[in-house]
Amino acid sequence: MYYPDEVIEEVRSRNDIVDVIGSYVKLQKKGSSYFGLCPFHNEKSPSFSVSRDKQMYYCFGCGAGGNVFTFLMEYENFSFVEALKFLADRAGVQLPQEEYSAEAKRRADLRTSILEVNKLAAKYFYAQLRSPQGKTAWDYLRGRQLGEDTILAFGLGYANKYSDDLYRYLKTKGYTDELLAQAGLISIDEKHGPYDKFWNRVMFPIMDANSRVIGFGGRVMGDGKPKYLNSPETPVFDKSRNLYGLHRARSSRKPYFLLCEGYMDVISLHQAGFTNAVASLGTALTPGHASLIKRYVQEVYLTYDSDEAGTKAALRAAPILREAGITARVIRMDPYKDPDEFIKNLGAEAFEERIREARNSFLFGIEMLERDYDMGSPEGKTAFLKEAARRLLTFDEEIERNNYIDAVARTYAVSSQDLKKLVTRMAVEGGLARPASRPRTSADREREKEDGHLKSQKILLTWMLEGEDIFRQIRQYISPSDFTEDLLRAVAEQLFAQYDSGDVNPARIMNQFTDEEEHRQVAALFNTKIRELSTAKEQEKALRETIIRVKEYSLEEKARHLAPTDIAGLQKLMEEKRALQAPDKLHISIN
Ligand code: UTP
Ligand code: MN
Repeated sequence: MYYPDEVIEEVRSRNDIVDVIGSYVKLQKKGSSYFGLCPFHNEKSPSFSVSRDKQMYYCFGCGAGGNVFTFLMEYENFSFVEALKFLADRAGVQLPQEEYSAEAKRRADLRTSILEVNKLAAKYFYAQLRSPQGKTAWDYLRGRQLGEDTILAFGLGYANKYSDDLYRYLKTKGYTDELLAQAGLISIDEKHGPYDKFWNRVMFPIMDANSRVIGFGGRVMGDGKPKYLNSPETPVFDKSRNLYGLHRARSSRKPYFLLCEGYMDVISLHQAGFTNAVASLGTALTPGHASLIKRYVQEVYLTYDSDEAGTKAALRAAPILREAGITARVIRMDPYKDPDEFIKNLGAEAFEERIREARNSFLFGIEMLERDYDMGSPEGKTAFLKEAARRLLTFDEEIERNNYIDAVARTYAVSSQDLKKLVTRMAVEGGLARPASRPRTSADREREKEDGHLKSQKILLTWMLEGEDIFRQIRQYISPSDFTEDLLRAVAEQLFAQYDSGDVNPARIMNQFTDEEEHRQVAALFNTKIRELSTAKEQEKALRETIIRVKEYSLEEKARHLAPTDIAGLQKLMEEKRALQAPDKLHISIN
């Protein structure tokens, strides 16, 4: 959904950044700014500053920064639209409604109703758990060493022994049989009519990233079968795109997730302080899960069960994560079955240690491969090494491949050289041969050069934000069209317009960028420190050089896009270029 700029700006301006951040971080006024402990990195003395004038925040320790939207995107892991909705709600601003087609509206209404009825059911189960008839379930959970806080935090409940009481309760709330069936809460039997899907089970509500109840898992209290009964897929419940525990893990401050298999694993881990644990709920990890994870972290520690099935699942999950650009490591749980049992027996500290000892998933795969071969015999070991070599070929980066070759060679006591030769031979056999070292192509060099120029353009934008005086000097030489990348040019256009109208407001410029990645890039632009780098003289020199670099590149680019017949145009560009080369012409003064 596209929201007009005015709406975004209204939401931003009605949410004072000091108030919003102040509800997450303890802030103290110092001069014109507020300071507190940075929520984005660990620190003991405050280097996190929030400016009421600029409506921006910035951490001098880790460089995090942005406006009120950025803060929520970073802190709560909201998307831009989620942050917008949250702040609109907070300030009582009515956002324009999306316009639906009739069919889309029907689907949206159905989803809303299912979420609503799920929430009611979760509350009902919770109340049952706390009532006298819920005693067995309560004792069961307490027997599994869950504290009251944990039970509450995960909204655990109890579906009692009657097989139609939830049904009857929800009927009193006016829901139709059809809806309750679509929500997966009841089944309808031709002979006996509607009955509850879950009864006499401990209930685990499954929530999405925004804490909405999308389904349930129900566990028998004992050895009955099936051990867990789960909601079917419904319009709101897609197992391959949701992770159990994500609603809490998303705001844990760790840069990685612990990915496990079951409900109880997640809950035990959270209770033990590992609030970054999530589970893929008994289903195999899918690319959908991986891209969901990628929104929050770049690294995953797999803590699957230590049995054969868990090991296999970990081996299958690792490449899916790798494909999504996530680094995967594997945590050993032995001699225990799963994280839940591990924590119970050895405690949180021992688990920390396992995290530290976690193995790279590729090496873990090689180690598991070993089991398929008779490593005691020369033929067996050779066959194993050939398969390992084939897998080593999957690394495109030469350095990375060599590092892995070294690691495998070390582990299996063969020489790196020999293993490298074997890898090359496998490549030839598999028709995958490529030159041992790829010479840098002209395309590579081209890209590096462009990166350098983009960097100069970014620095120049940062300079332009330093104040009216510097901006005026820069604009004698530079216009928005000198920025060759769309994002940077858009920022420049905004900034020029704001200086023209006399109302410079970086926080407002950020509103223009609703994509998370863009938002971060722009926030970074606005928070780079320049002034502290050097003396005024050195700064003048640096700025002058930056202007020249940006201008020259812009002229080059323009010349490249000029029609070959446009002689006048070319002459004009050459003239501009000559003007640049007379150094005293480009006068900058900073005070
Ligand atoms: P496990 O059998 O490892 O169960 O299944 P668990 O998590 O250790 O549970 P406890 O400790 O015995 O209570 C792992 C996950 O697989 C799914 C559930 O999501 C479970 O948490 N599962 C398992 C089912 O959906 N149905 C089943 O019958 C069994
Ligand atoms: Mn378990």
